Amino acid sequence: MAASPGGHARRGPPPYTLVMRGDGAIWLVGMMGAGKSTVGPVLARALGRPFCDTDDAICQRAGRSIREIFEQDGEAAFRSLEREAIEAAGSDGAVVALGGGALAQPGMAERLAERGTRIYLRAQPDTLIERIRNPESRPLLAGLGRAERRARLEALLAEREASYASAELIVDVDARDEHEVVQEIVEALAAGAGQGGNE
Ligand code: S3P
Repeated sequence: MAASPGGHARRGPPPYTLVMRGDGAIWLVGMMGAGKSTVGPVLARALGRPFCDTDDAICQRAGRSIREIFEQDGEAAFRSLEREAIEAAGSDGAVVALGGGALAQPGMAERLAERGTRIYLRAQPDTLIERIRNPESRPLLAGLGRAERRARLEALLAEREASYASAELIVDVDARDEHEVVQEIVEALAAGAGQGGNE
């Protein structure tokens, strides 16, 4: 069963057998501020899977913040580290929170689809603006006032929406906390979304 196009994930009945049967990664994708790093650990616990945040993995490996990597080496160098971090993640079936730009990189959507299930945490610009508490740590937003930040987010979202929307499952996160979002994902996975359908 697929996610309903453009709408909430379809809810399906238990049993939850399909959730644990799939051994591919669960990739959380979506814009900065959509809640990937907040939803991720809660989802991982609910599914009994490990959790990995690729931005954290990149920082640990580089010994620098994302902002420092962008400033010192540029975005292309960051994207290359990001690609390596993604390749290194997920083979243990982890729930993996990806940086907002990952899925939009060339060939990435196909690569992630080969290795697991992509879940798009979809948020409206108002929600993103509200939830991004530390814009200065995000190089693509740093140094911008609120209005410019919103315009930049909207432009990035417009560029990326098609790649995000190619995800196997789309979950709207506006006005919902991480537990509500996780519940919807668990139900959708149980119903077979992104797992090649019910058998
Ligand atoms: C980026 C999003 C960030 C981080 C980097 C670039 C983007 O991750 O990877 O600042 O291109 O949207 P979050 O989505 O976790 O903020």
